Amino acid sequence: MSNTNVNEAVSLSSEQIRSKHKEFLFPSVANYYKESLAIDRGEGMYVYDPEGNKYLDFFGGILTVSVGHCNPKVTTKIAEQVNKLQHTSTLYPNENIVKLAEKLAEITPGKLKKTYFTNSGTEADETAIFLAKHYTGNQEIIALRHSYSGRSLLAMSLTGHSNWRHGGTHLPGIKHAVSPYCYRCPLGLEYPSCEIKCAQDIEELIMTTTSGEIAGFIAEPIQGVGGFITPPKEYFQIAVPIIKKFGGVFICDEVQTGFGRTGKRMFGIEHWEVEPDILTAAKGIANGTPLGATVALTEIADSFTGLTISTFGGNPVSMAAALATIEVIEDENLAENSYEVGLHLREGLEDLQKKYPSIGDVRGLGLMQACEFVKEGKQPDGVLVGKLFEEMKKLGVLIGKGGLYGNVVRISPPLNVTKSEVDDFIQAMDSSLEKC
Ligand SMILES: Cc1ncc(COP(=O)(O)O)c(C=O)c1O
Repeated sequence: MSNTNVNEAVSLSSEQIRSKHKEFLFPSVANYYKESLAIDRGEGMYVYDPEGNKYLDFFGGILTVSVGHCNPKVTTKIAEQVNKLQHTSTLYPNENIVKLAEKLAEITPGKLKKTYFTNSGTEADETAIFLAKHYTGNQEIIALRHSYSGRSLLAMSLTGHSNWRHGGTHLPGIKHAVSPYCYRCPLGLEYPSCEIKCAQDIEELIMTTTSGEIAGFIAEPIQGVGGFITPPKEYFQIAVPIIKKFGGVFICDEVQTGFGRTGKRMFGIEHWEVEPDILTAAKGIANGTPLGATVALTEIADSFTGLTISTFGGNPVSMAAALATIEVIEDENLAENSYEVGLHLREGLEDLQKKYPSIGDVRGLGLMQACEFVKEGKQPDGVLVGKLFEEMKKLGVLIGKGGLYGNVVRISPPLNVTKSEVDDFIQAMDSSLEKC
């Protein structure tokens, strides 16, 4: 026993982790890859498996690792906070909760001011929908096809993807407008001669499928799980006034698009120059520490004074992680880096598109870029994406999947990625595609 390596004694191999995962976790905890990838540690752009193999993470932990894995500027603040005070619950205020709420009031668009903190994007959206209903006194909600809101019964009912809507429609009163999905226009039109009919159609949707008095409209500026579907620039300026006309508020889901991800701006919706009434955030807000935030206009937030509690919402450790993450994004000008390196990434992907006709569409903003893979006649090619995943993994590069048909590759590295890391990535995509 005396010469036993402590690490060896306590660490599991990738194989053991995979086997225990199968035995003890719900099978619905889906993993990527034919042979799932166990991850042991992360540093900057890279993650490592238990055997020490290195992977370039170009999905950023599902657009969550904003400033690089285990960024010391964030982990130091987390460690300091853990050792000082880990938990109080929202029954007692703390310095971090007020500092972060004040910061969000400063950086979110328009007059958004007050925040309710939870643990996830799902809860952030739940809080927003409840608040919209309470504030307006109306019940019906407009959501979008191809959207994703999370895994609660309400969030699944909001979600516009059969793959993620298990057990049917759990909650009534949600109507799904067509998606502003130009590459596969649901109305068979072409931009710009379409005159953004997808947005205009919301009026008829409300008049024909609701009571005519709605609580709100929930939409992602770029539909993330949907495969980074990027609406035309006029979309929200047409859609949101229609929502207002029928009494609703605009809930902007920035769970994927927030905190510099889309380049130049802190929040995705700023590219469309529309101000939300309620904004939801999670994922990239705290670089991987669980945190959801619902930020609302004062009059909307103040409309609800009933009791509600989130045991872990506003946890001082999550607050410290978010404050540190936002500080890094601001100090290192990462929204600008997202724009510049995002352009470089986009050029690389468009070059690949010229070489590989299977790349039907390249879309997105900043460091939120996607390639939609197709066969002849724009038939979705999810099989090719499956092969590409395996080839990229062999080269030590991680990517994300999306789209209704699983035929979209999502590319979203941490915001402090460099052009040279993007070049490595493009090279890996190129040689992997050659083998597919
Ligand atoms: C746009 C959007 N909203 C909400 C959610 C739900 O977030 P969470 O998984 O943290 O509950 C997600 C998760 O992918 C998302 O992409």
